Amino acid sequence: MGFVGACYRQTWLLQLYLFVMFLVIVALICFIVFAFAVTDHGRGQATINGVFLEYQLSDYSGWLKNRVSDRKYWSKISSCLRDAHVCSGMRRTARDPATGMIVPESVGMFYQRQLSPIESGCCKPPSSCGYTYVNETLWTAGTAVVLNDADCTRWSNDQRQLCYRCNSCKAGVLATLRHSWRKVSIINIVILIVLVIVYVVACAAFRNNKRMDNNEAYGEARMTKSRPSSC
Ligand SMILES: *[C@@H]1O[C@H](CO)[C@@H](O)[C@H](O)[C@H]1NC(C)=O
Repeated sequence: MGFVGACYRQTWLLQLYLFVMFLVIVALICFIVFAFAVTDHGRGQATINGVFLEYQLSDYSGWLKNRVSDRKYWSKISSCLRDAHVCSGMRRTARDPATGMIVPESVGMFYQRQLSPIESGCCKPPSSCGYTYVNETLWTAGTAVVLNDADCTRWSNDQRQLCYRCNSCKAGVLATLRHSWRKVSIINIVILIVLVIVYVVACAAFRNNKRMDNNEAYGEARMTKSRPSSC
């Protein structure tokens, strides 16, 4: 639209083009501000014996948190997580030196791992509960289980349940969203800069069109007189 308007000097086409571009730029700015505003709060917390971070829902707030923890949305999100086999993908094995059998990685190795927010929040009980590690997604209640956190009772060794009902899982999803929305926002800012440059160029073409139209209408005498721009 912009090229045709500029090349064939169709002022109305350029006008429409500039108007649409203006709306797109405003919408993009609104979306960038929105994406930063709703992902404003929350980050993971260090664990005592693990390298990975753990996530708490109470660290998050605002529209996105309410949206994710809403019962209706959460049932969809958690069934997606379950069907994506996020947690079974965590499996790592080692060979037991004594028996030569393939066994799950040791608890020491597990705590040295970097877990994604979803793996940390959804696939294992919060470490403050004191469950005993068997494998990544199997934790037994030893003697020292503390039920200080509702998530501790929500944890299930049923491989289809795990911690998908836990608040830590919702917080893990929020942390992932925050991360990916921030990345998308950076791409959007680059696109915004490009659009603004294109818009400015189109504005110049528009002014040029108008000036040439005026020259044709009023003759050569007005050639040097520039009109104030509305662009
Ligand atoms: C942990 O062990 C259980 C029971 O043997 C198994 O169903 C599950 O897949 C294992 N989890 C991982 C991540 O290997």
